[in-house]
Amino acid sequence: MNLSKRITQITGGGSDGWDVFYRARRMLSEGQAVTELTIGEHDIRTDPSILHAMDLSAREGHTGYAMVPGTDLLRDTVAARVQTHTGVPTTRNNVLITPGGQSALFAAHMAVCDPGDVGLFLDPYYATYPGTIRGVGAVARAVQTAVEDAFQPSAERIDSAADGAVSLLINTPNNPTGVVYSRQSLEAVAEVCQRRGLWLISDEVYDTQVWEGEHLSPRALPGMKERTLVVGSMSKSHAMTGSRCGWIVGPEEVIAHLINLATHTTYGVPGFIQDASSFALAAGSELEEKIAAPFRRRRSMAMKILQTQDTVGLVPAQGAMYLMLDVRKTGLSGEGFANALLDSHAIAVMPGESFGAAAAGHIRVAMTVDDDRFASALRTLCSFAEQLAKRHAAE
Ligand SMILES: Cc1ncc(COP(=O)(O)O)c(C=O)c1O
Repeated sequence: MNLSKRITQITGGGSDGWDVFYRARRMLSEGQAVTELTIGEHDIRTDPSILHAMDLSAREGHTGYAMVPGTDLLRDTVAARVQTHTGVPTTRNNVLITPGGQSALFAAHMAVCDPGDVGLFLDPYYATYPGTIRGVGAVARAVQTAVEDAFQPSAERIDSAADGAVSLLINTPNNPTGVVYSRQSLEAVAEVCQRRGLWLISDEVYDTQVWEGEHLSPRALPGMKERTLVVGSMSKSHAMTGSRCGWIVGPEEVIAHLINLATHTTYGVPGFIQDASSFALAAGSELEEKIAAPFRRRRSMAMKILQTQDTVGLVPAQGAMYLMLDVRKTGLSGEGFANALLDSHAIAVMPGESFGAAAAGHIRVAMTVDDDRFASALRTLCSFAEQLAKRHAAE
């Protein structure tokens, strides 16, 4: 069958470390009790007040084609939120509403990469990053971050990888590491982007989940608003993963071209979803904090549990709904450990390797089950790791 390279080469092929996830799903469907700590989906559903706004909008007739760039109301609301958080003057002409953050990531790369150009991304990475870059016909090139640097980006490494590159994709607060990039790191990244003429695509979908320090949008750094495309989403901040509503914020000229792209691809986002999103954003930080609160609480619980032992290491858990745990003392890879944990205790976590080579020997734990189950699973995980580490030391 003759299919395009673009579509057949989206995934790299081979084992991508997602076997544990699929195995856990199979066990669940066969009726086994598995504690699922794999993917980034809240254990609460969308707030009833948001559903009410959605229902009202649909009943009032907002079920036809919506404006392709997004409704004026939602574009204005997103622009005002971004301006308040960053101080960067932002209007609706800087905003395109998209069906979720994922399609914003794709559109952003479509806007800046030609076929054959190199798009850089940082390893460890959110699972779709390389495929998104390949999907627009570009070459995906990983730049490693190191556990010794607490997975902060290294400007030197980005610089060394930048030949032929047109863009750099970063994500803070970070999935999978839970790290929030420091001002110092982001300033160094901004300097490289300016010197090497790179577009910065800044994925900020976890901007409401910051447990330590502050979220800094690199678009706010000097000289960056002209070369930064910010990706945002309602998915994580408002537990609206299924509503598929996100956005790109960037220079007006880029947004004008992206509206053309949207006209020929998605044709916009349902009006009742946009009205619900406008309502949710207008509810302000109180609602955002309510939705982030369970993860903040579980992260504190986890720090207490992890302090009682020294086998499993914790990468600084500064934001997002994940913990990145170092299990190298067990002598197993992240994948080996995740498989063994699933087999022995029916607890499913993601191997670090599924997020790139830099996270080898680690596992990612999503804090997405209720507090008691979460604490109990983490305790079991730690004592299992201790047993393995003792066995490994005796070998
Ligand atoms: C880092 C990151 N970016 C983007 C997305 C995409 O989110 P959505 O398309 O639901 O907005 C996710 C989802 O898990 C993510 O973790």
